[in-house]
Amino acid sequence: MDVRQELVKLAESKPELAYLVRESLEAVDRSGTLLEIEGARLAILGKKGRVSEIFKHLSEVPAEDRPEIGRVANMLRRYVEAELARKSEELKESDAEAMQKRQALDVTLPGRRAPVGRKHLLTQVIEEVTSIFISLGYWIESGPEAELDYYNFEALNTPAYHPSRSLLDTFYIMKNEPDKNSPDDVLLRTHTSPVQVRVMESRTPPLYVVSPGKAYRREAIDATHTAMFYQVEGFAVDRGIHMGHLKGTLEVVARKLFGSERRVRFRPDFFPFTEPSAEVDVSCHVCEGKGCALCKGIGWLEILGCGMIDPNVFEYVGYDPEEYTGFAFGMGIERIAMLKYGIEDIRLFYENDVRFLRQF
Ligand code: PHE
Repeated sequence: MDVRQELVKLAESKPELAYLVRESLEAVDRSGTLLEIEGARLAILGKKGRVSEIFKHLSEVPAEDRPEIGRVANMLRRYVEAELARKSEELKESDAEAMQKRQALDVTLPGRRAPVGRKHLLTQVIEEVTSIFISLGYWIESGPEAELDYYNFEALNTPAYHPSRSLLDTFYIMKNEPDKNSPDDVLLRTHTSPVQVRVMESRTPPLYVVSPGKAYRREAIDATHTAMFYQVEGFAVDRGIHMGHLKGTLEVVARKLFGSERRVRFRPDFFPFTEPSAEVDVSCHVCEGKGCALCKGIGWLEILGCGMIDPNVFEYVGYDPEEYTGFAFGMGIERIAMLKYGIEDIRLFYENDVRFLRQF
């Protein structure tokens, strides 16, 4: 028997209680709003409510009936308390639900804008560099990241004893002999220069090509090195190309990238596939060449490696070095981005922290 039935039954045996109990239970049942619940609470449990009324009149009933009447009154009080609390809880819940439903259907609310992503800074810089070359009449080519030794080293005039071929510097995917280099070994390209060979092999000059892409080296990762990074390769092969064309081209590019007042300078360097070879510096855009923290007091920033394509490379692709000449260059995109935006740690590009990425 539940509390309510017991209560009714007890009240039945005490006619003086029956009315009060029944009336209280009905008041509880009738209350359907928070206001009505509060009304019922006052009418039954309040200072002048039904329950206190029962206790007030206890002295008027025969002494042997008092414990039973007191028990019924207490039971009524507890039942009404619990029942009203349950009802108001229920009401509050269904109110919240209704509110949510109304909100979900509120067609007057402005639409929620989908968060729009943005291009990664490295993508932006790659696009900026390549579009400068496209404006100069170059076109884009690409090559595989998993590359044959032949294209990455051999045909680029890089002899087997060259340090860049060391097992310590290159990620090999398939090596034919453990301690020997073979042209059909497969590796992760250590630079974008193999694209030069692939394009020259399959086309005839004139060629004016840029090729952005990933390169891989077995580097210990620190503020200026990652094992994967981006390069943009560029090269021109035609009749009568000379170093003046290379310097003029790079000057235009450096000025577009770093500002119209920039100057460039060539410092002699060595690459197996260019002769002569040079490192190119651009005058520092922060201090205008006076010397600052970015250029480490030098006034110049190193931006790329380049040179005139070595005749030996032309032999590999079957071009006549007497007929054609060409220049080539390769620049590190992370480095360009770091110099341009004063970023001091290359790892920031790859940590995917939106607080960093959002700034560009
Ligand atoms: N491939 C060279 C490097 O990764 C850069 C380079 C490209 C130099 C083309 C000369 C010509 O360092």
